[in-house]
Amino acid sequence: MSLEQISLIKPDDWHLHLRDGEALKTTVPHTARTFSRAIVMPNLLPPVTTVAAAMDYRERILAAVPGGISFRPLMTLYLTDNLATDEIDRLAESSEVVAVKYYPAGATTNSENGVTDIKHVMPTLERMAELNVPLLIHGEVTDPEIDIFDREKHFIEQVLAPLRSHLPELKTVLEHITTKDSVQYVSSENENIAATLTVHHLLHNRNDLLAGGVRPHFYCLPILKRSSHQEALIAAAISGNEKFFLGTDSAPHARSLKETACGCAGIYTAPAALELYAEVFEQHGALDKLENFASVFGPRFYGLETNSETISLTRQSWEMPDQYQLADDVVIPLRAGEAVSWQLDQST
Ligand code: NCD
Ligand code: ZN
Repeated sequence: MSLEQISLIKPDDWHLHLRDGEALKTTVPHTARTFSRAIVMPNLLPPVTTVAAAMDYRERILAAVPGGISFRPLMTLYLTDNLATDEIDRLAESSEVVAVKYYPAGATTNSENGVTDIKHVMPTLERMAELNVPLLIHGEVTDPEIDIFDREKHFIEQVLAPLRSHLPELKTVLEHITTKDSVQYVSSENENIAATLTVHHLLHNRNDLLAGGVRPHFYCLPILKRSSHQEALIAAAISGNEKFFLGTDSAPHARSLKETACGCAGIYTAPAALELYAEVFEQHGALDKLENFASVFGPRFYGLETNSETISLTRQSWEMPDQYQLADDVVIPLRAGEAVSWQLDQST
């Protein structure tokens, strides 16, 4: 493995927003060019709350996969206060719907139908623990009294720690973690909890969002934190600890909904996600740790095989386009109009 080119087992994206309808023509090819599988978030309008709806959504995604590429969307259900336990039973029998997503009501994009109080969903969570169905958590409290930069930390203390003491066997992924506190918490807990790390939280901190002008394309949830947290996330990503693996949280929004007085949360990273993770790992002298992070630890946690194909990245700079078409609008990707230093080898 030279430093000019690296090969890795084909990676998977363990947290992804593909949206629906025409947008799939943009989002699906961007992810499927690199990733073999992706955990597809269910926060559509209306949310995906049944196995039948998830399987229909899966068909729409598959219809947008370019010819000659194999891509397996791993579907999820959206946990509401009333998700019936027999839907969990159906999920447990499906090989294509693999997890349940917990959004605290009001925490983020399309979370209005999320959980209003964890007490309401405890029977569902107990059934999931029994059937070994993973729970994927957006870990932020929604109390308006709590500072937005502290919402993840409070969620661990108020919701996650009590849940895990009650159900330590429940397989749990704390998604897109953004703080040192989350790294410490996940590291200190048993093997049934892991965390995904986005590339934007590894590359950026809140100065990129707020210093010298507000930059809406850096606005996402959980919000970018100060650099000491960013450093803790990088340390976790390159640590070789199997509890931390790749999940882009690539979340496209139309430009008109980002560049406005009250803009949507979400950063679109799919067009160069793996290439950008490679930049982070290279900057920290840890390219040798990228394969486990991107391709091995995720399937291991989910109890799936690693992919059999490999892909290669070459160190060759290219320019990210200023924008991509997204249905009847455009989306501005991370790094728009700027250089990305690694390129995916298209022949692999
Ligand atoms: C996501 C979206 O747009 O769907 N936004 C984001 O900022 N990450 C939702 C989410 O994962 O919080
Ligand atoms: Zn997300």
